Amino acid sequence: MKMPLFRGMKPKRLGIVISAMLLSSVLLAACGENSPSILEPVGPVADKELGLFWFILAVATFVFVVVEGWLIYSIVRYRARPGMSAPPQIHGNNTVEAAWTIAPAVFLFAVLVYTIYTMFTLAPTANLPGTPPLPGGAATLEVRVYAHQWWWEFDYTKTPNYGFVTADSLHIPVGTVVKADLYSDNVIHSFWIPRITGKTDVIPGHDNTMLFRADTPGTYLGECAEFCGAQHAHMNFDVIVEPMDTFQTWVSTQQQAAATPPAGSLAAQGEQLFKSSQCAGCHGIVGVNLNSYSDPKAAALIGPNLTHFGSRDQIAGGVLDNNADQCQPGNLGNCNLAKWLADPQGIKPGSDMVISPLTQAQINELVAYLESLK
Ligand code: CUA
Repeated sequence: MKMPLFRGMKPKRLGIVISAMLLSSVLLAACGENSPSILEPVGPVADKELGLFWFILAVATFVFVVVEGWLIYSIVRYRARPGMSAPPQIHGNNTVEAAWTIAPAVFLFAVLVYTIYTMFTLAPTANLPGTPPLPGGAATLEVRVYAHQWWWEFDYTKTPNYGFVTADSLHIPVGTVVKADLYSDNVIHSFWIPRITGKTDVIPGHDNTMLFRADTPGTYLGECAEFCGAQHAHMNFDVIVEPMDTFQTWVSTQQQAAATPPAGSLAAQGEQLFKSSQCAGCHGIVGVNLNSYSDPKAAALIGPNLTHFGSRDQIAGGVLDNNADQCQPGNLGNCNLAKWLADPQGIKPGSDMVISPLTQAQINELVAYLESLK
């Protein structure tokens, strides 16, 4: 027996419709695997936004069930039967016209009020009480976030006594309010950490700010949520939420200049190569081609600062994982950094990483050096 919806449909077309429905459910199920879910918030901002989501969904579901239920009931109850006369015509009935104008307005007004209420509760810091101030004395952790095409840079120089810059991995202490100042000097991006905070656009010439807090330690995916060019899909970052003491250990490591590799080692050759080659034209390493994070020379560099590259989980906006454990000298078959250095344009076409080809020996040296920069 065919369902009424498909009645009269040719078998072939019916087959296509059912296949499309099955395929889309398989595809949508695959989305769940590695994607972060807004349904599992780990902070007050995402939590309030989720509350709004459920409220609107509840209103929409109620409206859907009432309208569709009424419709189906009417179709069945008042279907044409043999010998039936025409039903009464209600065109121009003032009571009915007023009812179906006022009822939707009431529902939409409820959604509007709850949306505005949520927006206002998210705006001020006062509603995001954090833990006691950071060891430096600051009440909030301030980070400048720069959206590049296509990677994220995190500048911790705004929080007093921090003074360093990193990329691809945003570390924050659990329970502390984070104030992210969002900058772009290229196109519009959107900063989004689904389990911690909703999206805010990163707009050239219009610096947005957002406040958020994460209450559960862990590593969460952040991403760009606004189409920003060919590699928009490869513009991810990690958010590492950690206890205050672990965070402070990370901070003090990041503040230091890059480690100098043992003389004569493969890594030392890599350092020499970095310094003397094309790499240093775009990337900075404190203690190698930069005197400090605030070295004026840094302004001219277009690539990420690599001073502590080895401590990061991602390469180039998450296009590859930084799988350092697979990067042993002489055995780079599965080493993602080696793959990246061998063919950046093949892996991330259109990125700024345009280099003259490196020899295998040079790749060995650079991998040994960069992965040693913990
Ligand atoms: Cu940046 Cu999409």
